[in-house]
Amino acid sequence: MLRRAMAILPSSTKDANGHSTKIDSAGQCLRFIARRWLVFGITGFALFTLLLRMLYLRERVVAIPSAVEGSEYSRWAGLRLPPLYSQYHQNELRLPQHHWHATSHEDEPKFFFVPGHSRGSGWGNIMQEILLNAYLAHKSNRAFVFYNYTWNDNPSEDYADYAGKPIPSRIPLSALVAGPLVGGAFPPGQHAPLAIAEEYYRTVCDGRKVVLDRDEMDKKARSWMVEPITTAWLEKLNTVDDQCVEVAQGQGPIYNWITFGDRHAMHDAWADFAASPIVTHFRWSALVELAFDNNREVIAPTAVFEPPLSTVPYTSNAERYTALAGLLVLHLRRGDYEGHCEHLAKWSSSYLAFNGLPALEQFDPPEGGSWGENTPENVAVYRAHCLPDIAQIVARVRAVQRADAARGLQHVYVMTNGAVEWVEELKRALRATGQFTHVASSRDLVLNWEQKYVAQAVDMLVGQRAQVFIGNGWSSLTGGIVVMRQANGFHPDTTRFF
Ligand SMILES: *[C@@H]1O[C@H](CO)[C@@H](O)[C@H](O)[C@H]1NC(C)=O
Repeated sequence: MLRRAMAILPSSTKDANGHSTKIDSAGQCLRFIARRWLVFGITGFALFTLLLRMLYLRERVVAIPSAVEGSEYSRWAGLRLPPLYSQYHQNELRLPQHHWHATSHEDEPKFFFVPGHSRGSGWGNIMQEILLNAYLAHKSNRAFVFYNYTWNDNPSEDYADYAGKPIPSRIPLSALVAGPLVGGAFPPGQHAPLAIAEEYYRTVCDGRKVVLDRDEMDKKARSWMVEPITTAWLEKLNTVDDQCVEVAQGQGPIYNWITFGDRHAMHDAWADFAASPIVTHFRWSALVELAFDNNREVIAPTAVFEPPLSTVPYTSNAERYTALAGLLVLHLRRGDYEGHCEHLAKWSSSYLAFNGLPALEQFDPPEGGSWGENTPENVAVYRAHCLPDIAQIVARVRAVQRADAARGLQHVYVMTNGAVEWVEELKRALRATGQFTHVASSRDLVLNWEQKYVAQAVDMLVGQRAQVFIGNGWSSLTGGIVVMRQANGFHPDTTRFF
């Protein structure tokens, strides 16, 4: 029908245009009109379906973006988006201690949650607080409620903005660490309640949470040191029988930046903390260990066969993360530390709590600083320790090398966020000393997409295992390494600072 109509089209238009005056009979006239209507009708029908299709498609095409319209997806257009680690999250929810469908939760352990935990900081800052929160929960005989490593709480935003680049808003803790911190077993013989995921706590404890007031414990502790804070909380928790206990969210963390910024803050708590299974049975995630295994020869070439970490059964923190003979690891913060070191100088800051452990070398802030001010000489002292230049770094390495504990160093691994050109210049300077056969940096690691966003933890694992480590006393990333080395029995002479 359509083909026939098309076939008569030319003649009819020709007729219509060229010979319209020759239409002499009514029949012809009627036929002409009929054909015209037919053409009109067919064209109209075609146009109509086209229009419908366009509207329909438009609705379909538009409908998808409109759900995320003005969202982060359009914001990050053209960039490869970070991973969301959903399989880790799923796995956390499936922990066997979660009895999602139980009609009663009475016979489950008591829980302890710190909803005001720190967010939006580097992994070093977050990890030190997680360790202490878990330590407190364990001492109170409550299950630690573990939470995401969080940059952005907003559930409708999967990505956070980090200096203009998208990073995951949340990383499940189990992508970074393993063991009791994320619900794994405690060492044999210890019947401590197993950690649970935040979602489980929120579900099971809905409508029956007991919220504790931080101010009450602060008044009792009268100190920001770890030991008195912990004791005050334990005394309180011992009087509470309820299953679901948390700290008032608006009151922030229990252990905060004031505690972590005081070099004496860990002293009294240290022995007990280091002996806690939270530390003795600390473990890095399989993702992090695999990154280490894959890069083993990049970090420091091996001479004899060493089984990959991921093939070795876990026994303890100390037995797993042993010293890598011959490896010197340097931690050099760049970037934001330009301004940060200046700020530290102005406020005559001491090392952080995790770096101020008693057996280690200390930094005594030079005299002469006042409220938010310091002399140019003192600022230079801070720069030399906090943001050393290449000549200062090499000089410090040479000085540390004279220690007995540094005998046999042959490889250097530089943990850094510095720009590649600067790192390459530093590597050349270290090679030029003639002391090292291999010099590598964080920039040389080959990481997969999921490992890329937990690279700080990979570096921590390397630093933790160095024969000699030289860190930055104001960095919490250094702090995590220092605590693990000290807890695992590394000689204090092998853990140094710039
Ligand atoms: C933790 O992060 C995951 C995404 O990785 C998210 O699905 C989950 O809701 C987060 N949990 C909480 C309690 O916010």
